[in-house]
Amino acid sequence: MISRDTIQKVLERTDIVEVIGEFVNLKRSGSNYKALCPFHKERTPSFVVSPAKQIFKCFGCGESGNAVSFLMKHEHLSFTEAIKYLAKKYNIPVEEEEETDEQKQKHKERESVLVVNKFAQQYYTNNLFNDDEGISVGLSYFRSRGFTDETIQKFQLGYALDRKDAFTHHAQKNGFSIDVLVKAGLVIQKQDKVYDRFWARVIFPIHSMSGQILGFAGRTLRDDKTVAKYLNSPETEIFQKRKILYGIYFAKRAITREDKCYLVEGYTDVMAFHQAGIENTVASLGTSLTEDHVNLIHRLTPNLTLIFDGDQAGIKAALRGIDIALKEDLNLRVVALPEGEDPDSFSKKLSPVDLKEYIQTHEVDFITFKTQFLLKDAADDPIKRAQVSKQVVESIANIPDPIKRAVFIKKASQLLEVDEKSLFAELEKIIAKNLKRLTLTPVKPAVLPARKTPTIPGYTDAVSIPEEKELIYYLLKYGNKEFIREQTPDGNYVITTVAEYVITELQNEELEFKNNVYKKVFEEIKSLLMNGKPIDFNYFVNHPDPDIQQITVDILSREYPISKIWERRGALVHHPDDHYREGVQQTILSFKMRIVSFAMEKILDQMHQIPPDNFEKITPLLEQYNSLMQIRSKLNSMLGNRVILPPKLMQ
Ligand code: CTP
Ligand code: MN
Repeated sequence: MISRDTIQKVLERTDIVEVIGEFVNLKRSGSNYKALCPFHKERTPSFVVSPAKQIFKCFGCGESGNAVSFLMKHEHLSFTEAIKYLAKKYNIPVEEEEETDEQKQKHKERESVLVVNKFAQQYYTNNLFNDDEGISVGLSYFRSRGFTDETIQKFQLGYALDRKDAFTHHAQKNGFSIDVLVKAGLVIQKQDKVYDRFWARVIFPIHSMSGQILGFAGRTLRDDKTVAKYLNSPETEIFQKRKILYGIYFAKRAITREDKCYLVEGYTDVMAFHQAGIENTVASLGTSLTEDHVNLIHRLTPNLTLIFDGDQAGIKAALRGIDIALKEDLNLRVVALPEGEDPDSFSKKLSPVDLKEYIQTHEVDFITFKTQFLLKDAADDPIKRAQVSKQVVESIANIPDPIKRAVFIKKASQLLEVDEKSLFAELEKIIAKNLKRLTLTPVKPAVLPARKTPTIPGYTDAVSIPEEKELIYYLLKYGNKEFIREQTPDGNYVITTVAEYVITELQNEELEFKNNVYKKVFEEIKSLLMNGKPIDFNYFVNHPDPDIQQITVDILSREYPISKIWERRGALVHHPDDHYREGVQQTILSFKMRIVSFAMEKILDQMHQIPPDNFEKITPLLEQYNSLMQIRSKLNSMLGNRVILPPKLMQ
């Protein structure tokens, strides 16, 4: 795991213009840079990089982020990979951090399973091309199905020999322990016997987004109905069908380039489409689409097109599991293949050009497809037609964007020959029902957001903030004194009191004191002010609460409480009475600065705990971190250029 320190150094050193400039042709435009957006097709540049803010934004497609998220999106790197990339670029040594024993164990296990998987893939592939049985059975099978050697090699296909211990032996001979082979799911252990999971099957390795081999599928070549056609690696921490899309590693670039993802059903369908030049194609692993799948696709494109086999029963089944993609706001479309065809068979009947043409011209939006498909069944039966309306509106209700919903309701009303109003009424009923279901879910009180400092995470965890003491000092000693808030355009000064200034500054940022006693004092000062009373430190010195008494005596007996902050900034220390205005401002600024730093550390901590591939969780953290860096640099420059007060008012 990369240390927090390294992550911080990298984030501080990184210059977004230098990073993005390596992938995109940036042209200066005022204080910003412009380019054609690498995330969508366009002719006039709407992709803007701001060196001041260290962010990019595309005003065409809305993609935005900082240097790290650019690398994650553009190069499809995980967070860790992006940080490592930048560390290399800027010659920052990467410190790997000590992990807890449990983390270490997990990490090691994952690493070793990935190593075994790679080893196994090479073994199976070697069988396919170099072993007599592999060639005559496996390779000839793939070739007979029309796959070129290039495709077979690209997908790193293989062959498991017709012997139940061939791989186990080979792996053991190469120093792999039974333990790790079992963990990888390649070897099955029963009592004291061990044997291969895959034998007499052709092998499809299953890759992650970044190309690691997470597991395998093995297809039997027998016609025996009692043997499962496909066998997968068992579900483990690493191999989780609900998170994996077959072909994603080979498809990711084409998906972003075409800004579209095709989803087919099977391994061979993916391969066939790739071979026909439609490389933006993936498949789920024989399961229905999950939220994780959809998120994976959404990282690359908002446009998902389902390729349905031309068999009615199959389509009916496929229609059910798909609303999840609507819920996640993908633009969902469907292409139905001719009766009796699947992508594999169909792609082999047409030339690549004709195949592309067919797909482009037969694509319809999901709602239209579903409506038309269900209507065919219902014919003129009014009861069935009403059911279809309901099912279609149920799908539409999943779409988060109300404008899109309205468009689809309009379309559906035409197809169903039902007026829009009644469809809208139905829609509202369903949405209301869904909402109710949501609010009825009991929420654990601990999960409720603490209403403390919503804008600044991490603040509540701050242990002790020395500036709190300083602020109380100023409030008690100078709280009633005048304070110049700002100069108006006509040259007048808005004058307030120190106490009012401090209170509004804290309230504006929703900051609260952490230390309980200071907080009590602060609250009392606030209520004095609200009642129009002056702050009298005698009142606090003789306060009934002994803690408050103690603390106020303590604070007020100190001669130069601000010296520490001032010395740090190289300022001359005069008597604080001459400088209370500057002192208050400085203290407020460094108070904010400290809180921002806490928040940044907190975010680094969080980033650390999130698995590096979890794009959805890391992205908002990166955004928060980025905006905190900006706040911090603003605070820094304000702290550096101390506000000079107009001499007239300096008494
Ligand atoms: N599948 C599976 N286990 C099975 C059957 C199917 O996991 N016993 C999954 C596989 O991911 C498979 C997909 O469902 O790719 C589609 O199944 P099917 O259409 O039967 O297989 P094809 O991919 O078309 O394979 P082939 O063309 O080799 O028959
Ligand atoms: Mn098939």
